[in-house]
Amino acid sequence: MQNSGQNFLSTFISNLIRKKNPDEFLEQSAKGDLKKTLGAFDLIILGISAIIGAGIFVMIGSAVIGTTERVGAGPGLVISIVLVTIACIFPALCYTEFASMIPVSGSAYIYTFATMGELPAWMMGWVLMLEYAIGTIAVASSWTGYLIKLFQGFPFLPECVKNPPAWLVNDYQSVVDAGGTVPHILGIPVCFNLPAMFIITVIALILLKGIQESANFARIMVFVKVTVIALFIVVGAFYVRPENWTPFAPNGLNGILMGAFAIFYAYIGFDAISTAAEETKDPQKNLPIGLIGSLVICSIIYGLVTIVLTGMMPMNSIDLKAPIAHAMSFVGQDWFAGAIAIGALAGLTSVLLVLQYGTTRILFAMARDGFLPPIMKTVHPKFNTPWVITILSTILMLLGSLFINMQVAAELAIFGTFTSFVIVCIGILILRKTEPDRPRPFKVPCCPLFPIIGIVFCSGLMFVALREVKTSAMLFPLWIVLGLVIYFLYGYQSNRRIVALKLQKLDQPEDVKEKV
Ligand code: ALA
Repeated sequence: MQNSGQNFLSTFISNLIRKKNPDEFLEQSAKGDLKKTLGAFDLIILGISAIIGAGIFVMIGSAVIGTTERVGAGPGLVISIVLVTIACIFPALCYTEFASMIPVSGSAYIYTFATMGELPAWMMGWVLMLEYAIGTIAVASSWTGYLIKLFQGFPFLPECVKNPPAWLVNDYQSVVDAGGTVPHILGIPVCFNLPAMFIITVIALILLKGIQESANFARIMVFVKVTVIALFIVVGAFYVRPENWTPFAPNGLNGILMGAFAIFYAYIGFDAISTAAEETKDPQKNLPIGLIGSLVICSIIYGLVTIVLTGMMPMNSIDLKAPIAHAMSFVGQDWFAGAIAIGALAGLTSVLLVLQYGTTRILFAMARDGFLPPIMKTVHPKFNTPWVITILSTILMLLGSLFINMQVAAELAIFGTFTSFVIVCIGILILRKTEPDRPRPFKVPCCPLFPIIGIVFCSGLMFVALREVKTSAMLFPLWIVLGLVIYFLYGYQSNRRIVALKLQKLDQPEDVKEKV
């Protein structure tokens, strides 16, 4: 009796940590036959396209001033940016090692399946949904802020377009928190963020048709957003008044750390580069240049924007919804505020494209591995895109946008990303031990020190933040528990069936094997 109990337990545990051999992923991707065309420059463009968005155009405001739940860094946000750059460089190196070793799309989800097994892989995919799907809600809400800012630049537009009712451009909680009123129909509050829902739907339609068409579009967006930011730095520098930089860190070290947590949102997305590993020429050389290069370029841009923004006006005058454009209005450059709104909209749109694309591709990889019902891996016969998963995930994001406000969505995305970085660093340490001889075109230098520094920095910032950001700190564990429940209700059983089928196939004679 005791023995059968022990057997059950050991089978159960070995199921949870059943690993997928990296060669299986490589075989799968070899069938895809993707051309190796991307060089270092393409990867840097891809990185910048994914990285620069709501973080610098919107969240920078709350990172400087703070919110009702967390304190701000003040002008000392520059120091926070240095800290976050360090926190990102070590996981970026780990991503590079994995991506060059297992160059398939699916990113951290795949790496976890190869190193830690089934349950950790599912949880990694689930946590990545915070970064990608919930992150989409944060960026789409920011999109609304800049759209209204743009409309306000056109005096001839009707007042209801320039200053729309709050219930048409916000989630319910934000309106209630701001003391606004919401109309009710049959007792149900009517409140939705119309522009955010609109842009999420438009991007989903583009993705349904195929990503190829959007590659050029993304390049133009990168050009527009970088030009606008460069202009902001150059023009804004003329309005800097050094007295605005004092006090430099009004909330001390805690403020700097909370600022680092908040501005981390601006860095999310560079891991998307690793998903292009399969299509990269000379990956051992180009992947690290792409990953570290885009990180460093974005950090320099962020540092300069912070110095200029905090120098242009007293800290408490910084706007929370569209801080960069508002700074230009503040110094009387209204026309320039309009140009910034256009750049910001372009930037946010390109980030949405990457985040929504990532959402569908990670979910697709998980459906292919049996974690989600088979219908979700249906590919459209004409467009060759995973249309069922695209439509379903879009519906869920639209529903989420009704309830989750921008700050909470961004904080959840930050928690998700920190967790995935920590797991990727741990994965490198594990694979160095379990498969020391597997060819590694790129190796993290100073291993195990560098991955350990990555783990310490990322988990440290996460724990510091957990004390202050009450709402997201409560929702994050709930998300984890929900993931576990879904896995045990569906993924666990479904994977047992898949494994049994594979074993059955191995037992068959060759001619029957083909048919199974
Ligand atoms: N880093 C991306 C942004 O700032 C997610 O929008």
